[in-house]
This record gives sequence, C-alpha cells and structure tokens, in this order.
Amino acid sequence: MRILFLGDVVGISGSSKIKENLLSQLKINKIDFVIVNAENADETGVGLTKEICEDFFKCGVDVITTGNHVWDQKDIMSFIDKENRLLRPKNLFEPAPGKGFEIYTTKNIKIGVLNLMGNVFMKKCDDVFETAKKFMGNYKLKEDYDFLIVDFHGEITSEKNAIGHYFDGKATLVVGTHTHIPTNDARVLNNGTAYQTDAGMCGDYDSVIGMNKINSINKFMKKDSIKHYPAKGEATLSGVIVDCNIETGLANKVYSYIFGGQLSKN
Ligand code: FE2
Repeated sequence: MRILFLGDVVGISGSSKIKENLLSQLKINKIDFVIVNAENADETGVGLTKEICEDFFKCGVDVITTGNHVWDQKDIMSFIDKENRLLRPKNLFEPAPGKGFEIYTTKNIKIGVLNLMGNVFMKKCDDVFETAKKFMGNYKLKEDYDFLIVDFHGEITSEKNAIGHYFDGKATLVVGTHTHIPTNDARVLNNGTAYQTDAGMCGDYDSVIGMNKINSINKFMKKDSIKHYPAKGEATLSGVIVDCNIETGLANKVYSYIFGGQLSKN
C-alpha cells in the first residue's frame, strides 16, 4: 500500500492546486490513501471550513489533519463532531470538540491516523510525549491497525526528531507539519518507521511561509501593513509518499513529494 501525506495547505493557491491536480496525481503516483493537513486552507490563511473539507474529500483526500489554527474559522467547531475524517491535535486541552485519532478502513486495510501538536513555541496543550506514551500503551501496530500515520504539528526540529524516534517501530510514518518548509531528511528510521521532519506546505513558495512576502517583511520590520493575506501565485504540493509493508506495518521506503510551482523538480 502506498500512502501520500501532504503538508499544510495554504489559502486559495494551495486549495486550488489540490482541487485541480490531486486526482490525476493519485493515479500517476499509484496512491491508495491520502492525508492532508489543511489547517491553513481558508482564504485568509488560517483555519478551514466545512466547504473546504468537502471539496478535498471529493478530490481524493481520505483524512484531514490540523494544528494550532484548527479553530480559527469558528464554524469548524460544530462540523468536526459530525465529520469522522477531520482530526484536531489529540493533546489539545479537554474538553475540546472533535478527536485526534481515528482508524479508517480502505480495501480491508486498517489505517490509524494520529494528530499531535508540539509543546515548544506552540499554543499551550497537554504534554505531547505523555500523550504519545499513553497512546502507545493503548494501541499497537498490527493489532489495532495495519498502519499508523502520525502528523506531528510542531515548530522545532529537535522535538519533531525526538517524536519520530519515540514512535520508531510503532508507526508506519511520522511526519512533521507547521513550519511550511520541507526538510530534506526523508528516511526510514532504524526500527522501520518512515520519517521526515517537515512535509512543507501546499502553497505558493514565492512568499514567507505562504503569506504575502511584502507584508511579512513589513511585519518583521514593525511597519504598518495592510491586512496579512496568503500569496496568490502557483502552489507547490509538498509532502511524503510512503510504501508500506503489510506484513510488518512498517515502511519499505519513503520519498519526498514535490509537485508544481516554485519547488517543482519536474
Ligand atoms: Fe500550524
């Protein structure tokens, strides 16, 4: 089985690239299951809406994960309890709407998807390592699911690296999100878990992490700027593809995935 994970979709640029290309990309790359972090997919660049989720499901997305911006478009708070395929970080302070883990079945194969958020330089949430420890005590690869995909939404590379090793041998893929910049370290760890520190974004890279570059520079220079908005050029789709081993539940191989826009290698 081959799974595609796509990093944070940013604004209209990222959303339309997915809507226009995902179905054909899934065919070309022989993808069986797709997870997308869409917490920046709204036209404002923060949050997501019911309509965005439904559009993504129509064009081949199986599961949507999120992060610190999950509640920025308020309507999502009531939608998330009705939509099994939309996750928020599991370690948000409870009570919170929605859930951070679910098991999905496709072609008789059970795929667990776990959404976690880091503690360093992020909104306050429960200790992610304690949450991960408890999770691994309750769920086991090849017992509860055939494959486990972990989206770790975090700011710093060391915390992401540590979570990757913590899950090594117990997850199929651990991939970071949130920084919007893909890292060049896709690999299979010693005990068989595929890992990349950050998947990068699905957005316009002629920008500052997906937002208009002039506004971003002005913001850093503490100059007044007009309302901040996402960059509108052609998006690159960024993420990872993992070839999964049905016998072990672990990864045979992992590849960085880059399609279109400024980062395209094609
Ligand atoms: Fe984020």
